[in-house]
Amino acid sequence: MQPVILAIESSCDETSASVIQAGKVLNNVIASQTVHQKYGGVVPELASRAHQQQIYEVVNEAIDKAGIKLSQLNAIAFTRGPGLLGSLLVGVSFAKGMALALQCPLIEVNHMEAHVLAHFIDAPRPTFPFLCLTVSGGHTQLVLVNDHLHMQVIGETRDDAIGEAFDKAAKMMDFPYPGGPLIDRYAQQGNPTAFSFPQTQIPGLDFSFSGIKTAFLYFLRDKKKAEPQFVELFRNDICASLQFHLVSMVLEKLKLAAAQTGIKAIAIAGGVAANSELRSRLRAQADKLGWNVFIPEFQYCTDNAAMIAMAAHYKFLAQRFASQDVAPVANLAIAD
Ligand SMILES: Nc1ncnc2c1ncn2[C@@H]1O[C@H](COP(=O)(O)OP(=O)(O)OP(=O)(O)O)[C@@H](O)[C@H]1O
Ligand SMILES: [Mg+2]
Repeated sequence: MQPVILAIESSCDETSASVIQAGKVLNNVIASQTVHQKYGGVVPELASRAHQQQIYEVVNEAIDKAGIKLSQLNAIAFTRGPGLLGSLLVGVSFAKGMALALQCPLIEVNHMEAHVLAHFIDAPRPTFPFLCLTVSGGHTQLVLVNDHLHMQVIGETRDDAIGEAFDKAAKMMDFPYPGGPLIDRYAQQGNPTAFSFPQTQIPGLDFSFSGIKTAFLYFLRDKKKAEPQFVELFRNDICASLQFHLVSMVLEKLKLAAAQTGIKAIAIAGGVAANSELRSRLRAQADKLGWNVFIPEFQYCTDNAAMIAMAAHYKFLAQRFASQDVAPVANLAIAD
């Protein structure tokens, strides 16, 4: 059977819906929430309210654009976690309501597995097994992907995520939220070797970003003591140097994981995979080490329902359905 599935994503601050038919994503409707900008980060209470206000329109638009009738849907998929509980609840409840009304099965999707499976939306698709470096606002993981349904986290951050390090550093420089993309933009005109930051030594495949966050705070404090306009005067060089440091940290671990596993099929996923320096240095590293790299389209890096739909497609084929008593889980882990 070639299923038609509606997928809903509401784990953080994007309300998104997508329809997938026979494994082909037909659309990817995303309503971003602007309400958080003035607070410098996502406010969970406001995020859940915005999902409530947007979800009906977003789902309707996805169904309309797909040109299908509700009765054609073979399943309703949703993000179960990880994410903000109040945000997840909106998507889970909406999906349950639809599945009940349409008398069709439910499919729960792990958001972090979906970030990895975003690679199967379009060609070129990775071959198994491959390694995926997932770098997002809430996670930094090295995932060994054996097939669409079986993956294992072989390294992850012990504290903050890389996206959080980008956003917090941006906030320290008074950039609007989310600051990651702005650091990327300013860095393109800066010198990556203008400033250096201390190296964090974590053994094995795990990461740590809390040290660089603190080091950057003290770096700015000390520089501003000598020159109050330091950030304004050296903005591009600061961004380039910090970005160079953060990207080096993840590429080092990726290199180690590839050497340890002997795997040369390498993918990146998650919001920070949109970073231009990570993308270009990964390509350069791939040329040097003979890797075959897979870099997703920008629209499939940050949160989107197309990746949830893709993950749901494989679960449907394996007949892995959820029951009506399923509940969201804020820190849902990837299960092999
Ligand atoms: N070009 C870029 N350079 C650096 N960081 C970026 C860029 N584009 C987006 N980001 C960062 O990506 C993050 C958002 O990614 P994503 O939407 O995948 O995270 P999330 O959904 O909040 O977290 P998670 O997926 O772990 O639950 C933010 O931290 C944002 O700053
Ligand atoms: Mg995400």
